[in-house]
This record gives sequence, structure tokens and C-alpha cells, in this order.
Amino acid sequence: MLNKKPQYEPGIELAAICLYDLPEIARLYQEAFSDHFLGHMGQKFLQLFCAQFINSPTNHGYVAKSNGRAVGFVLGSIDRQPFARFYRQNFWTLITLVIMRYFQDAYVRKHIVKRFGCIADALKSFVPRRHQEGETKDEQNRFAPARILAIGVSSDYRGMGIGNQLTSYFCSKMKQEGYKKVGLSALPWNERAIHFYKKDGWVLEESNAASLSFIRTIV
Ligand SMILES: CC(C)(COP(=O)(O)OP(=O)(O)OC[C@H]1O[C@@H](n2cnc3c(N)ncnc32)[C@H](O)[C@@H]1OP(=O)(O)O)[C@@H](O)C(=O)NCCC(=O)NCCS
Repeated sequence: MLNKKPQYEPGIELAAICLYDLPEIARLYQEAFSDHFLGHMGQKFLQLFCAQFINSPTNHGYVAKSNGRAVGFVLGSIDRQPFARFYRQNFWTLITLVIMRYFQDAYVRKHIVKRFGCIADALKSFVPRRHQEGETKDEQNRFAPARILAIGVSSDYRGMGIGNQLTSYFCSKMKQEGYKKVGLSALPWNERAIHFYKKDGWVLEESNAASLSFIRTIV
């Protein structure tokens, strides 16, 4: 019988994403998410997007490197509105880039209607957030689990356990931050990712036509 255990890539190093990594991470994002809307937004948009996960108190991004080259990444947040600052700070640049991509990319034209909710989110990001009485921003966030928002591994490096190394690294960092649970969601058609999450120890919490939510208790 064949041994189906993943072959772990020995020379993988994990670290927080830094500014220098941004072009590589944006390229990896584009490759890993070529069948998702954001993967069609172009390098400039993706670099601005990934920059939100550097030096932020709430958004965290980690890179897996092999021989100094980025081969995987994980982006996550402890904030319930992780993209509020992204939208607020880059509003007109993002609008311009989306309009440009609309004319350049048939995938964007086909799927843009489903993304109109993001425009509403972008506008909402200008409204100051209200916290419940007596509850600090930190306390409010602490009730929600930390979340993985995106994970991707270069196609040449898949099936070597790097995805598992990235989720484990992210969870260990969140444990250090005091979190006991980490959540994530997947699109129902992304069978490979769903297979990966189940194998990686994530428990299906909720499922509907739009997404599957998984949770992991950090021990
Ligand atoms: C999901 C993902 C991060 C998993 O990373 P990974 O490092 O390949 O994870 P693993 O090594 O544990 O492999 C997981 C499964 O991927 C599949 N796989 C393995 N090699 C593969 C390859 N070269 N190409 C495609 N899928 C492959 C296998 O089904 C494997 O499960 P198995 O060991 O039971 O056969 C990676 O497939 C990826 O980047 N996908 C595209 C982006 C994506 O969909 N992200 C998730 C969004 S919710």
C-alpha cells in the first residue's frame, strides 16, 4: 500500500510578511486565487491589499519561504472589519483600479455585480465604529475568533504540507495573542481547499450555498 503521508518540505521558513515581500506575495496571491475575484484585481491592487497585513495590530500576514523565495502565505485578522482601513485609506485608488480592471479583464466584468457589497462595505468604512457601552475595542474583538482570510501555496509546492505549516504557524501566533479559536471560510466549489481544511483538523461549523465555515480550537 502507498504511504499517503505528505512529504514535508524540510527547508521551509515561516516569518511575518514584511514590505520587501509584498511583490512576491501579491504574485502568489494572483496565482493561488486565479479563480477568485480578488485574484483578478492586478498587482497594484493586490500589493495594497496585502500591505494591510504588515505592521498592523489587528491584521497578521505570514510567509513561507524556500531558499529565500516566497512559496506560500497566510493572511488573517482579529478584527471583525479587517478591511475598513484598507477601504478608507485607498478609496479613490481602489475605485480607479477596479474600473481599469473592468475594461481589461473579462472575469471582472462577469463577476462584478456579486461584489457590489464590497462597495457598500467601503462606504461604511467611513462611518465611525460604535462599541457597546462599557466595551473597549479590544474586548469587543476578543469575543469573535481570530480568522484566516486567505491562504495560498505556489502550485509547484502544493501537497508538501506547507499549507499545514502556515495554518499551524498562524494558530500559534493567535494563541500568543490570547485567542482560543480560529475560524475561516471556504467557497463551496473549492473542493481542494475544503479537502485540505478537513484533513488539516478544521471542524465544519456552518454551511450554506454561499460558504462553508470552519473552526479550530487552539490547544
Ligand atoms: C489549499 C492549499 C493552501 C493547500 O496547501 P498545500 O500546501 O497544498 O496543502 P497540503 O500539502 O496539506 O495538501 C492538501 C491537499 O491538496 C491536494 N494537492 C496536493 N498536491 C496538489 C497539487 N500539486 N495541486 C493541487 N492540489 C494538490 C491534495 O488533495 C492534498 O491532499 P492529500 O494529501 O490528502 O492528497 C493550496 O491547495 C492552495 O494554495 N490552493 C489555492 C488557494 C486556495 O484555494 N486557498 C483556500 C481558499 S479558502
